[in-house]
Amino acid sequence: MKVVICPTPADVARTAASVVALAVRSAGPEAVLGVATGSSPLALYEELAAAVRAGELDLSHVSTFALDEYVGLPRGHRESYAEVLRRTVTEPLGLDPAGMHSPDAWAPDPQVAAAAYEQAIHDSGGVDVQILGIGANGHIGFNEPSSSLGSRTRMKTLTARTRRDNARFFRSLNEVPHRCLTQGLATILDARQAVLVAQGEAKAWAVAATVEGPLTSMVPGSVLQLHEHATVVVDEAAARQLRLADYYREAYGRPDAA
Ligand code: GLP
Repeated sequence: MKVVICPTPADVARTAASVVALAVRSAGPEAVLGVATGSSPLALYEELAAAVRAGELDLSHVSTFALDEYVGLPRGHRESYAEVLRRTVTEPLGLDPAGMHSPDAWAPDPQVAAAAYEQAIHDSGGVDVQILGIGANGHIGFNEPSSSLGSRTRMKTLTARTRRDNARFFRSLNEVPHRCLTQGLATILDARQAVLVAQGEAKAWAVAATVEGPLTSMVPGSVLQLHEHATVVVDEAAARQLRLADYYREAYGRPDAA
């Protein structure tokens, strides 16, 4: 894994945006972008939006696949991930809403919808670059600890910790759904490139466990160790528990470094 340690969260956003922009440009105008929710990638999306506004990047023919969606919210709920992504990605980045895909958590049978979503990703030709955040417990997407390393899109139950962490987006903890549909770990691994961003000391344990192992379903992010082209971009606070931080600074001080 390539680990890029940046001085500040703003540098994380700029660095990760340049990695994503490069991947999208080399995939061509119809690139497929994997998008994550949560606060971690928001500044990265703002950087991409600024590049679009400046005419440096054209994403109008790019399609997106969301990592996950809550099950149990009313359709159109402000905190459903389809809505969050419409506000934070589709509109500011000038994407075609018709090319935006999310797991259909409102389908009569969510498990059938999960299989259809997996097929849709496959039929699109696959994700060129997957943007990821990470949960404080090491989850990626909504693959909670103990998720199968070979998992595909499916229904999952959220841990109490994830529901507490995400309660800040809702009026109360009671409103946070218990279930979700999420791409599996094997689905995420299929992306041709993965870019994970993390900022702040609250993520330091998850980042170190993801990058420095061991590979275990108890830290779902650690599955990225199996990915051929994964870049982890963190600020100093999120890098605090990395044992090889000095090595990463020397080896990957620039995002294009080997
Ligand atoms: C949610 C999302 C994840 C995200 C995580 C971290 O649980 N399903 O994709 O990485 O939150 O969120 P944040 O970036 O807000 O810390």
